[in-house]
Amino acid sequence: SEYEYNEQFGRCYKFHLNPLNWTDAYAVCSAEQSYLAVINTQEEANYLVALTESKPKDRVPGNFMRGAVHLGFHNRANEGWQAVRGTALDDTGYTCWGTNQPDGGDLEQCGSMFYNGLLNDISCDTRSFFICEHEVDTLSSSLDDRFGETVV
Ligand SMILES: *[C@@H]1O[C@H](CO)[C@@H](O)[C@H](O)[C@H]1NC(C)=O
Repeated sequence: SEYEYNEQFGRCYKFHLNPLNWTDAYAVCSAEQSYLAVINTQEEANYLVALTESKPKDRVPGNFMRGAVHLGFHNRANEGWQAVRGTALDDTGYTCWGTNQPDGGDLEQCGSMFYNGLLNDISCDTRSFFICEHEVDTLSSSLDDRFGETVV
């Protein structure tokens, strides 16, 4: 529910307007049989930027990190940036970091994008919006692949 289908990518996306830390966001996506979104192309980045722009973010009250959206990559093992689906971030097809990012070292071992689509390291306990994603065509057959190698 509330997932928006993008025919070009064959994927559905949901922008969550309830800010959570990365770990909780990861769990929410999993509970929805999805995963924190992984950007694979510039076109997909553009789409996620437009999706982000379309949401009433400024109407959400509370104390959380504005300007960033949790995505599906991390460096929690300190072994390099990994996508949640088990590939190195460098192999996802999209690695456009923001200026001077990543910059947080051990303090920022989770992944997000700025509202403009550029990647940003973020503390895993910082609450922010997040985007979940799932593939449509091969959903049931790919779930095992998707979560089998995930580090939680
Ligand atoms: C994320 O937030 C939950 C509370 O919702 C908390 O229990 C957990 O420790 C937090 N995780 C991190 C990594 O900060």
